[in-house]
Amino acid sequence: MRRPLVAGNWKMNGTTSHAWRLVNEMTDAASSLEALDVVICPPFILIPQVVKQCEGTEFAAGGQNLEVHAEGAYTGEISGSMLVDHGCSFVIVGHSERRNLYGESDALVAEKTATAHACGLRPIVCVGETLEERENGRTASVVERQVRAVIERAGMGVFPAGIVAYEPVWAIGTGQTATPRQAQEVHALIRGLLRQENSDVAAQIRILYGGSVKPDNAPELFAEEDIDGGLIGGASLEAADFLAICRTATH
Ligand code: 13P
Repeated sequence: MRRPLVAGNWKMNGTTSHAWRLVNEMTDAASSLEALDVVICPPFILIPQVVKQCEGTEFAAGGQNLEVHAEGAYTGEISGSMLVDHGCSFVIVGHSERRNLYGESDALVAEKTATAHACGLRPIVCVGETLEERENGRTASVVERQVRAVIERAGMGVFPAGIVAYEPVWAIGTGQTATPRQAQEVHALIRGLLRQENSDVAAQIRILYGGSVKPDNAPELFAEEDIDGGLIGGASLEAADFLAICRTATH
């Protein structure tokens, strides 16, 4: 049995006061969330506050990105070792917004995954196809290319501590969720690819679904065999919604 994991990706949202309320509401309910890993990924600047608020709970914090170099003249960047220094244990890598808006290639995502692992962070590696790719029947080949790039550069050693998140780009922030069947199909494909490399790792690794997950669609998504939790955007900014999604994952 894989332990479910639900991660909240706040993206570029949240003030100090909003974060304060949100995390307090969540930590108040933490004891009701058993047999589940919960990760909060706020913007960099809110990480110290969120880490402090999560002290004494099982909640973990994560970054949304990292730079591959450890330190130096990289204006505006944050390294993996800095995330560790500030109490993070996870980091999101290769989110489609990073790939599409900031031009992150498969090679760079793979490099960042290797760096995260080397720093002691658990990478949450995001993969997923665009609408155009899906409509052209290229979902499997795109996801396979993205996963293989990570395996080739970072090796299977980054898993099972690492996580894969399948986030179809067309489902992110659109309210258009993949059907449980569509999601399960890709999750099974990803696990199958990993199985070709190492069947134990494939059996253990958690594969999350992300893309317009809400309290009402989470139950049927999380019921699928290869969906081990979710990477939640918009709904992670509302404590009640995020908690409801977390509770669904424990069933
Ligand atoms: P939404 O849940 O807002 O669709 O975002 C998903 C996502 O991109 C999480 O990383």
